Amino acid sequence: MKATHSLILFLLVFNLSWSQKELTIKNAFSENNKAVFSLESGAQISLDFLNSKNIKFWFSPTGEFQRTNLSFAVVNENFDPGFSINLNESASSYEIFTADLRVIINKSPFNIQIFNKYQKLILGDTDLPYVVNGTEIKTTKTLRIDEHFFGLGEKTGTLDRRGKSYTMWNSDKPCYSENEDPLYKSIPFFLSSHNYGIFFDNTYKSKFDFGEESNDSFSFSSPNGAFIYYFFYGKDYKEIIESYTTLTGKPIMPPKWAFGWSQSRGLLTNETLTREIAQAYRKRNIPCDIIYQDIGWVEGLQNFEWAKEKYQNPKKMLSDLADHGFKVIVSQDPVVSQATKKQWEEADAKGYFATDMRTGKSYDMPWPWGGNAGVVDFTKPETSDWWGNLQQIPINDGVKGFWTDMGEPAWSNEESTDRLNMKHYLGMHDEIHNVYGLTWDKVVTDQFEKHNPNQRVFQMTRAAYAGLQRYTFGWSGDSGNGEDVNDGWVNFANQIPMGLSAGLGLIPFWTTDISGYCGDITDYPEFAELYVRWLQFGIFNPLSRAHHEGNNAVEPWLFGEQAEKIAKASIELKYEMHPYIYSYARKSYDTGIPIMRALILEYPKDENTFKIDDQFMFGEALLIAPVVEKGVKNRNVYLPKGEWIDYNNPSIKYNGGSTINYPVTLETIPMFVKAGSIIPKSPIMQYIGALKNAPVILEIFPSDKINQFELYEDDGETNNYKNDEFSLTTIKTEDSEKFFKIEINEPQQNTFKTTNRNFLLKIHTTSNPKGIQVNSTKIKVSSLNKISENMNSNFKESNYFFDTKNQLLLIRVPDTKSNIEIVILK
Ligand code: NOJ
Repeated sequence: MKATHSLILFLLVFNLSWSQKELTIKNAFSENNKAVFSLESGAQISLDFLNSKNIKFWFSPTGEFQRTNLSFAVVNENFDPGFSINLNESASSYEIFTADLRVIINKSPFNIQIFNKYQKLILGDTDLPYVVNGTEIKTTKTLRIDEHFFGLGEKTGTLDRRGKSYTMWNSDKPCYSENEDPLYKSIPFFLSSHNYGIFFDNTYKSKFDFGEESNDSFSFSSPNGAFIYYFFYGKDYKEIIESYTTLTGKPIMPPKWAFGWSQSRGLLTNETLTREIAQAYRKRNIPCDIIYQDIGWVEGLQNFEWAKEKYQNPKKMLSDLADHGFKVIVSQDPVVSQATKKQWEEADAKGYFATDMRTGKSYDMPWPWGGNAGVVDFTKPETSDWWGNLQQIPINDGVKGFWTDMGEPAWSNEESTDRLNMKHYLGMHDEIHNVYGLTWDKVVTDQFEKHNPNQRVFQMTRAAYAGLQRYTFGWSGDSGNGEDVNDGWVNFANQIPMGLSAGLGLIPFWTTDISGYCGDITDYPEFAELYVRWLQFGIFNPLSRAHHEGNNAVEPWLFGEQAEKIAKASIELKYEMHPYIYSYARKSYDTGIPIMRALILEYPKDENTFKIDDQFMFGEALLIAPVVEKGVKNRNVYLPKGEWIDYNNPSIKYNGGSTINYPVTLETIPMFVKAGSIIPKSPIMQYIGALKNAPVILEIFPSDKINQFELYEDDGETNNYKNDEFSLTTIKTEDSEKFFKIEINEPQQNTFKTTNRNFLLKIHTTSNPKGIQVNSTKIKVSSLNKISENMNSNFKESNYFFDTKNQLLLIRVPDTKSNIEIVILK
């Protein structure tokens, strides 16, 4: 008892002694874009101004600016080469002014306050800005009463992170709860409603407290490693995300078929079943592009050889599937099982495994399948080519890409402390753990690109660290309710904010496991409703994959006729939207901003959006509000300010700025279009690119403003887009008293040329026009049938038809690849 008391007393005193020490500046100097402040304690802090808005902070308690490894995430700090600052000193502080920021560095107590040029505090230290305890450092900042936080990548729970705390430790937690933390990915980048973002570039087990402990301050800390963080100032969240993208790199551009539908299953690991599923898709006319093979496809974990008893002729299977438009993606795990003797011995002898610091031998890692394994050390440069040659085996057979699974590495969650004995080429496991998956993803992509020049990589991963976007897409792992699959509604609903938060942390290309991964499906009709609702959300995930554990099949036709019909229509909608989605994919590549957007991205000033976790924008035109509750007949939908049109019934319009109660049936996906939107669409195809010379459908929801859309197209497969080989067509609409005008501008095209085709305009309007002119020449009124006739082969006809019943004006014009002006006379 006594001993316990004195321990508590000791802890209290000790705690007080280190946590309450204010710091004082001794001296400072500046050079070019950098200022360094030396503190009485011997610590130093440097501020590198990347430009007038973005600053790199580095706090070193010893005063030495050294790190064991270069950043795994940062690829570019050169935002504005030649940028320089002036450091001004006054009696009590130093000041650095840029065109956008006023940074005041107070001398005693030392703290830094960042204001914008209008003297609004953006980010301020508390008077205990850095607290050091051994190797652990914590920084504490002022928390404003109205401040909200978003981000940290693909984490569970509400989008608004205020009042909560989080840990970064990549963890495999199948059937995770809606508040599970930590989970698979560590992305220490967050956004504040006060116009800034922070990326804490520390790979150890860092922690973030967004006001759980205190109402006046928030903090982040790490047990070890260089204490480096980047501050980004921006007029809105988008600008901050763009700065983070400049720092950590652009996302990879997916091949265009990646935005098709994909089918998977834990035991989808044999040729017969794969062929059966492919055939069934085509027979039922449900579009599908990708079939996944889970880890059971390999003969030996992980020798990349096909399991012989399961695949009779894998090459033939792949080429037959390719003939029908299917692409096959295979799983890889980052380990080599000891049972795969030859490969394990080779890797062991060459030192390609992480070692056990206690024995110096290859670490003996328990693995959920295939027995104990060696953990491939992707931080070691020599490992890369070895792995690359292996993974190329299935690619040479016709496989199109990889699904990198279990890269936490799995079974090294917080409680598995033995893993901390793992030594990697670049450091001990406590430093490498969170970047382990990232180093693997880098090897997979680098090697894919090396062996398959000019082909776009497809890689989808579970475990990662900031910067993953340069190598891989992401998915949210083992969601769903393992105890009772039918009770997975909360798990499903949680996928929405998780995906939106992933999008805020540079995973623009993402999917949930549609149906949820966990739980045996024993009663398909009973599970049908949840399946349908999950799918109706899933088709708006940039990558859409149905996947479920074990042999639980989740093909759309297994849940009854009605569910099949709804699933088919939803998947078809995704295919129709492909030109729209692909145009946004290019934007994601350029800026990091995803197509599936938290409402805060589009409506940053509307505080109502902070709390909305179950709606999102799909690009700028569409607001999607999936139904996430069982058996409901209506759903509340918050429409931000502006004019909205019911996508399901365009004759219904709403004035935004309020919540509406929207009636739903199982068929309904509540979708709302912003008035004025132009949505490029495609005819439904069984796989992306199946129809040659297909028209570009332009669905237009007129408003009285000038509106515009940039249609982006490229070859969809190669990296030629990086050499500006693409086509960009600007489509503009303008309304006036006498006419409604649509301009399709001559495309900006380098060597990439779009095919011969027509434009088919679908304009939602109530009035039959007096006449229509294309480039000043009147075109003919026609019938619905005539308009669609030979759409994919005759590129000479211009005509139009007004569909009174559907209040839709259809106009067909050939794509002449030059300026087209369509004037609709009122
Ligand atoms: C774990 C993954 O999260 C899951 O999707 C996969 O099916 C299993 N590993 C088996 O490979």
